[in-house]
Order: sequence, then structure tokens, then C-alpha cells
Amino acid sequence: MQNFNYYNPTQIIFGKDRLAELNDHVPANSKVLVLYGGGSVKKYGTLNKVTEALQGREIIEFGGIEPNPKYTTLMKAVEVAKEQNVDFLLAVGGGSVMDGTKFIALAAKYEGNCEELLEHGFNPVPAKSALPLGMVVTLPATGSEMNMGAVVSHNGSKLPVFSPLVFPKFSFLDPTLTFSLPVKQVANGVLDTFIHTVEQYVTFPAEGRFQDRTAEGILLTLIEIGNKTIENPTDYDARANLVWCATNALNGLIGSGVPQDWTTHMIGHELTALFGIDHGHTLAILQPSIWKVRKEQKHDKLLQYAERVWNITEGTDDERIDLAIDKTRAFFESLGLSTSLSSCGIKKESIDEIVNALEKNGRTALSESGDLTLDISRKILEDAL
Ligand code: NZQ
Ligand code: ZN
Repeated sequence: MQNFNYYNPTQIIFGKDRLAELNDHVPANSKVLVLYGGGSVKKYGTLNKVTEALQGREIIEFGGIEPNPKYTTLMKAVEVAKEQNVDFLLAVGGGSVMDGTKFIALAAKYEGNCEELLEHGFNPVPAKSALPLGMVVTLPATGSEMNMGAVVSHNGSKLPVFSPLVFPKFSFLDPTLTFSLPVKQVANGVLDTFIHTVEQYVTFPAEGRFQDRTAEGILLTLIEIGNKTIENPTDYDARANLVWCATNALNGLIGSGVPQDWTTHMIGHELTALFGIDHGHTLAILQPSIWKVRKEQKHDKLLQYAERVWNITEGTDDERIDLAIDKTRAFFESLGLSTSLSSCGIKKESIDEIVNALEKNGRTALSESGDLTLDISRKILEDAL
């Protein structure tokens, strides 16, 4: 097992009908900026519950944070936060609102040009302070509710922003707030959680036995409840398990002390930036092809995945791995997500554009060992057609 630091200060308040407790967690006397997206939280009553719980406090609302939140939109919220001297941010929404709120927290306190916050990739941004923030989660997928990362769209690219200053102080995870999600968004959430898990698991063996077993537990749970929670959106326990898996797939726990390979996400971000495909859906399209092309590098862990997750114990190594990839693809498709570029109208001619975008964003040495070049990305994209 590799050396690691593990730090996670976010308090989780999990379960139904707990929003009334919000007031106990927001610091006393703080002026709160409540941030939300395109209106689902208004439509389904979550915003009302939040403002009711915060009655008696000074609250300002900022709506309109779009999916794949844009720098320009977020900077409007930064202006409001500064003008109104708010001292606490409350995100009510999915990954886009949560990520946007993290960026706003940093930008509101940043003294330089805020575009600089987008230039640091996976390294922490050089910010000295941030506004404190909390979250009410309405979409289980990104894990943003318990991590220090965000993804912001700017000038046609999706750019990561990391800082330990933006770990939420608390996150409310009430599975019933997610019952109103459209089927496609639930499927996206299962996919995002699945891929976060395999990107920290299907790499090369590192004697991270606890991490491996925990990752396998998340994957098996998703396979058990994925279809159920799509078909029966109000089945509380199925949804509760998805919510808790999503949080734990990307809160630092399973990735500590083991290699990580974020190739699927990095290429996926280009597909979203260029063609507007939902984040979770890009991952379904790419993952089977990435494993096919990287079979050799991931041989041992793909075999382990085949055996422990899909119960494949017979055949040659190659046959087992191929069957595991087929079963994975079939699982994604059973959730209603297509697994090819062409199904989204993307043709061979667009591959150059995608590879150029990878190059522009410095995504030229991906994978657990940094050996995945643009040529290999091209192969993956050709396979995914
Ligand atoms: O905008 P509203 O009207 O709220 O509607 C949203 C949006 O259209 C809707 N929605 C959310 N909760 C709902 C609901 N509709 C009905 N009922 C509810 N309870 O769902 C749509 C998608 O929302 P969005 O927040 O964009 O989805 P998601 O949670 O999948 O977030 C995706 C964003 O997170 C980033 C992605 O890149 C993308 O920008 N990620 C963030 C990560 C992180 N911070 O660690 C990691 C991830 O890998 C990911 O990259
Ligand atoms: Zn993701």
C-alpha cells in the first residue's frame, strides 16, 4: 500500500425529513447565500423546505447555475456574495450547483484574477481562504458533497478546481429529495458512481485490500440496486443505497494508498465540452473501450474485477476479461444509457477535434502510470465509435 494522507472534515446528515435541522448546522448570525440550478428545487419544493428551516435569518437566493456550471455565471454569484457581504454559502442541488458553489466560495475571497483558479488541474489552487459552505444534495452522482473538488466550464473546456478550503462543513443527504429525478439523471448517477469506483480500483495491484474490497462492495451494490432504483424511484432503501454509494465512491476513502486512473473522466470531459453529452453518459460510452485498449496494463485488476464483481471463474484470462467488459457494457445499457459515440451522433471525423481538445488541455499523459498518449486516446475513441 502506498503512503497517504486522509483528511475529510465534512459532516453528513443522512436520512429522510431532516431538513428542519438545517438551522442547527449553519453558523449563528450568518448571512446566507442559497444557490440553486435551473429550477428543479423550486418545482419540487426543496427550496421552500430550506428557506422555512432557515426562517429568521437573512437569506439571499441565487438561481440559474446551469449543468456543467459556467465560470461567467458563477462570477455573477461572486458579485452578489461580495456586494451583500454574505458569510455562508448553501448549495441546494446536484453536482453542478455544488461544484459551482465551491468555486464561488474560493472566488469570493480571491484577490487575483479569478480565472487563475482554473489553471491548477488536480493541484490545490493557491487560495488562502474561502467562504464556508454547506450542501443539500438533490442528485446522487458526483460525490461533490464530501470532497474538495469542482469542475467549472470556461472557454469550451471543463476544468478541475481543487482546494481543501472547499470541503463542505456539512451535507444533507435525504434520499427522498432525489425521488423527483428524471430516469436519465438517475442512470447518470449510477454510472458516475460506478466509474469513480473503478477509476480507483481497476489499475494495478497495490495491496490495498481494504480499498479493493470496499470498491467491490460499492460496485456490487450498484449492480444490485441500479435497475431497481430506476424502475421504482420511490423505493427508499434502493435510493438510499445509491446516495451513500455515490458519496463514498469519491470522498477520498477508496482512493487512499492505491493507484488511480482518471482517463475515463478526462476524455469524458471533452465529450461534454464539445458535444454537450451528460457527464455520466460520457463515461458509459468510454469505459468499455478504455478497458479493451488497456487490457494489458490492467490485466491483473481486470481479472480480479471479473471474478469478484461478476463471478467469472472459467475460461482463459482473455476470455474472462472480455466477458467482464461485455457484462459491464450490458449493465450500463440496462440502465438506459447507450455505449457508443455514434449513438450520440458523433462520427469518425470528429475524433481529431476531440484529440485536439485533449492536447489543448494538457491531457496527453493520462492513466495510472502516465503512459496514455494522445495516440492511445485516439485508439480508444475509434473503438468507442
Ligand atoms: O438545474 P436543475 O433545475 O436543478 O435541474 C438539474 C439538472 O438539469 C436536475 N436535477 C437535479 N436534482 C434534481 C433534478 N431534477 C429533478 N429532481 C431533482 N432532485 O438534474 C440535472 C443535472 O444536474 P447536475 O447537477 O448537472 O448533475 P450531476 O449531479 O450529475 O453533476 C454533474 C456535474 O458535476 C461534475 C460534472 O463534471 C458536471 O459538471 N462532477 C463533479 C465532481 C466532483 N465535484 O467531485 C466529480 C464528477 O466526476 C463530475 O466531474
Ligand atoms: Zn464523475
